[in-house]
Amino acid sequence: MAKIHTTAKKHFILVGNWKMNPDTLEDAKKLFSALSRKAQKTTKVSVVIAPPYPFIGPLSGKSDVISIAAQDVSNEPRGAFTGGVSARQAKAVGATSTIIGHSERRKAGDTDEVIAQKTFEALDAGLRVILCVGEKERDQHAHYLRAIRDQILIVFSKIDKKKASWITIAYEPVWAIGKSYDTAPKPSDIHEMSIYIKKVISEVLGQKPGLKFQVLYGGSVNFENAQAILSDGAVDGLLVGRQSLDPDAFGNMIEYANNL
Ligand code: PGA
Repeated sequence: MAKIHTTAKKHFILVGNWKMNPDTLEDAKKLFSALSRKAQKTTKVSVVIAPPYPFIGPLSGKSDVISIAAQDVSNEPRGAFTGGVSARQAKAVGATSTIIGHSERRKAGDTDEVIAQKTFEALDAGLRVILCVGEKERDQHAHYLRAIRDQILIVFSKIDKKKASWITIAYEPVWAIGKSYDTAPKPSDIHEMSIYIKKVISEVLGQKPGLKFQVLYGGSVNFENAQAILSDGAVDGLLVGRQSLDPDAFGNMIEYANNL
């Protein structure tokens, strides 16, 4: 019998944030090709890997199914900023996107203003942005919602709104990053936050683009909780730390998202 009703499958984004791992280029290449093999059969998942800066060039172009992100970029376009890496430089060696505002960068001193400027620079250089937002802790009176709202609105006040669709928000509650895997919030809490984030963005961009805005979840994701979050968390994907260094675990997430 002919199908009367088909549901369009959702397209997920899975980002692997390698942080300051692994130690050598050789290991980075091995890990990357293992992940690339796992991602080979996917049709419904965009896989993005964020390696440390020195590995971006050597890994870019090595997979036709994985794109490369930087983990951060400078808030300055160029000049006398020793140790800095500009958005244009990251793009020049093969990054197509960058993470900005990760809590580990915020902890190292990035203020909301700096993050907004970094986002401006990245978009100006033609990079997509994975903008991390998240509360340090939750309080009974839901003041943490205000913190998330402020983190988002300051960035949107600095950028050219025409480029807003190049941003993906990653909701990463600081209290759930790098912890035991049962610390991750429940899918229903993530669902709630995803809707809240879309509402905040709707205030700036209007309802239609706001509600369509891509929101990822990150913070102590493993294959087990990834399944529940992808199914019931109302998110467009995941930002995965430790488990993106394990090709089997990350590969399982890719496969699961592809079949959802
Ligand atoms: P984690 O890291 O998955 O190891 O908690 C997530 C992140 O910091 O992006």
